[in-house]
Amino acid sequence: MKRLFTLLAALTLGLNFVHAEDESPLGKAMSGFNKNQKLLKKQVTDPAKKADNLQLIVKIKASLEECKKLEPSWTKKVPAADKPAFLAKFKEQMDDVAKSYATIETAIKADKLDEAKAVFEKLADQKEKGHKDFHADDDK
Ligand code: HEM
Repeated sequence: MKRLFTLLAALTLGLNFVHAEDESPLGKAMSGFNKNQKLLKKQVTDPAKKADNLQLIVKIKASLEECKKLEPSWTKKVPAADKPAFLAKFKEQMDDVAKSYATIETAIKADKLDEAKAVFEKLADQKEKGHKDFHADDDK
């Protein structure tokens, strides 16, 4: 039994290692902001966390700016003539995410916490569409 655990632990570590090695600069930036987004979603309706939450938004906005400067890995598969439009669409959809955060920020500042929470549904759609349009989960 103990040997089985050791084997499983080694496999898990190995897989994590492969995954980390695999992650592109954009994937890394997104993973960082994903953590902050999850935390914000969890505590956004807590009035005692107002300052904390506004601080999280500052961090998320910085990550979004960083993401916007990077390119999806799929870009290398796009024909040269289509690249500018592909990248312009990518930046546009990242800007839409930033707009959702601007709405959340305004709502938190006005203590309209249910309104802030509702925006997370839109963010989930934006993430899903972004990942589909830019092949986040496909082999590159
Ligand atoms: C709105 C919330 C979003 C969250 C929380 C999010 C989160 C993530 C995470 C965690 C990864 C890493 C996946 C992994 O390797 O495990 C990732 C990758 C990626 N995301 Fe997002 N994402 C969001 C929105 C978007 C949008 C709007 C776009 C496109 C405009 C996008 C495009 C991508 C791409 C292309 C990758 C793969 C990295 C690469 O191609 O190099 N994401 N995202």
